[in-house]
Amino acid sequence: MSQTYLMIKPELVADQIIGEIVKMLTDNRFRVLALEMKRLDVAQVRRFYAEHEGKPFYEDLVAYITSGPVVAVRLEKDNAVADLRALVGATDPGAAAPGTIRYLYGRSLQNNGVHASDSDASALRELAIVFGDGT
Ligand code: CMP
Repeated sequence: MSQTYLMIKPELVADQIIGEIVKMLTDNRFRVLALEMKRLDVAQVRRFYAEHEGKPFYEDLVAYITSGPVVAVRLEKDNAVADLRALVGATDPGAAAPGTIRYLYGRSLQNNGVHASDSDASALRELAIVFGDGT
């Protein structure tokens, strides 16, 4: 078993598209270990997205993710990182495969509905930033 991190981004939380996504996760045999609606602060989001610092979209990304609450989800499954990325789909919803979360609920390259960790190391790092070490 391994863990990964899914974040439901502010535009979907604002529109209450939460249950639909959790259902897709559990239908695909992910186990929800922790789930919390929370408002991330700027320092946390800067650390979270540090790999994108300096890119043209970085400042807009930080403003967007801190614009309202997100739903943070700690997930467990065999092959969790790769399976979640397959379920989430391509970063750009316009390129995401039919049936994926971003195909169904993504709105633009920035407002793409959800974030999923891209490696086991990223998952551990991101879970620690968002949940702390406790959960
Ligand atoms: P996410 O998977 O959370 O990782 C970085 C985020 O930056 C991405 O989803 C989008 O929300 C946002 N973003 C905005 N513009 C771009 C871009 N050109 N390339 C990648 N990500 C972008």
